[in-house]
Formats: sequence, C-alpha cells, structure tokens
Amino acid sequence: MKQLVEGLKEQVAAHRQPNYDAPAVFINRWSPRAFAPRPIDEETLFAVLEAARFAPSANNLQPWRFIIARTDVDRDLFCQFINEGNVTWCQKAPVLLLLASQTTTEDGRNNRMHAFDAGAAWASLALAAEMKGLAAHAMGGFDRDRARELLALPDGFEPQVVIALGYQGDAADLPPALQEREKPNGRRPLAETVFEGRFGRAVDGLV
Ligand SMILES: Cc1cc2nc3c(=O)[nH]c(=O)nc-3n(C[C@H](O)[C@H](O)[C@H](O)COP(=O)(O)O)c2cc1C
Repeated sequence: MKQLVEGLKEQVAAHRQPNYDAPAVFINRWSPRAFAPRPIDEETLFAVLEAARFAPSANNLQPWRFIIARTDVDRDLFCQFINEGNVTWCQKAPVLLLLASQTTTEDGRNNRMHAFDAGAAWASLALAAEMKGLAAHAMGGFDRDRARELLALPDGFEPQVVIALGYQGDAADLPPALQEREKPNGRRPLAETVFEGRFGRAVDGLV
C-alpha cells in the first residue's frame, strides 16, 4: 500500500500509519533509547537550541532555560539526579540537557503558562533534532530537588525535563529489556482526540 505521508523512515513506516498527510518530520520523530557513540558538533547543537529559542510563549516571556551537559564531568553530574532506569540508556547520549522554566513574570507575578511554554520549546528542539538527523528523548524520571541543588538552579525556576540528545544507535547495544521497546509507538486516533463544538461530540468523517 502506498504511504499517505511521503518521506517516512523505514523503521517508522513499519509502526506508524498516519491517516492524514502531516509533514513527515512529525511522524518520523520518536524517542529512541539507543544512542551511537558519536559526538554532536557544536554548530548542530546550537542550531537545535536555536529552534527552541524561537518557540512561541505567552507574552513572549520565553520562560525556558537549558543547561547542557556535554563533558564527561557534566554528564556524570546529571547521572546523579536522573533515575537509574533512565541512566542505563541515557548515559550513552553525547549531550544531556535540563530544561527548566521560570515560574514568574518580570514583575514577580505567577506565570501560569511557564510549563506549557517550556513544552513548546521541547517540541521545537525535538523536531529540529529530527530534521538535523539527531534524536531527542525527554525524561521526566529524575530527582528535581537534587537537580536543583547540583545544577545551582535559582529560586523561581522549575526543572521540567531532562533531554538526551544524540545520533540514534543500535538497539542491540541496549539492555535486553529495553531492546523490545526500541521502536516507534502509535497514537490514539484523531477521532478520539478532536471534537466538534463541545467535548465528546464526534467530528463527521474524521478517523
Ligand atoms: C514530559 C515527558 C517525560 C518523559 N519521561 C520519560 C522517562 O522518564 N523515561 C523514558 O524512557 N521516556 C520518557 N518519555 C518519553 C515518552 O515515553 C515518549 O515520548 C512517548 O512514549 C511517545 O513516544 P515517542 O516520543 O517515541 O513518539 C517522556 C516524554 C515526555 C514528553
């Protein structure tokens, strides 16, 4: 059968069947755990961060901040607050990043949108990574208090996710339990996600 979306990677096409013609980069992006022992050159790393920089945010507050770890010393420090289950695979990624968001506005008021906006920055980074031939994998599994302490995160900033960034590696190098899971996963259909006029009302013809 002809693929509806052109430009899907072979591994992705085997697991993801889009029903509508979304740009391929959105379907091709997924979160592998196997990373190749290949460094990311600085221009590429900065380009991916530049994509995150231009994410939209409420009142253009840009609440996101990134702390990058790309030396052995810095990556080891990150591994002290990342959950063990995540460290097993993410320690091979050449770059780890903490994405934190500022919870207040310039004049000290609560910014209700900080986490939402940090999510937009993460999505931009992940999609840019995909377009640059990299893979990004977000992790919520880490000790936030310890991250705050070890990375000297100031008050008023909240750690959101740690991101593993690198080139996709060989699944065979993962611990056996993770090898099985090393494939793109599926999604709930749009028909169960998008409603017409009010919550729960089906959109005619949407699959
Ligand atoms: C906020 C957030 C937290 C996540 N935390 C973890 C995590 O701690 N460990 C992990 O292996 N994957 C984690 N993931 C990856 C998700 O499981 C993954 O994005 C989801 O299953 C969809 O798969 P895909 O990204 O491959 O499309 C996280 C993703 C997000 C966005």
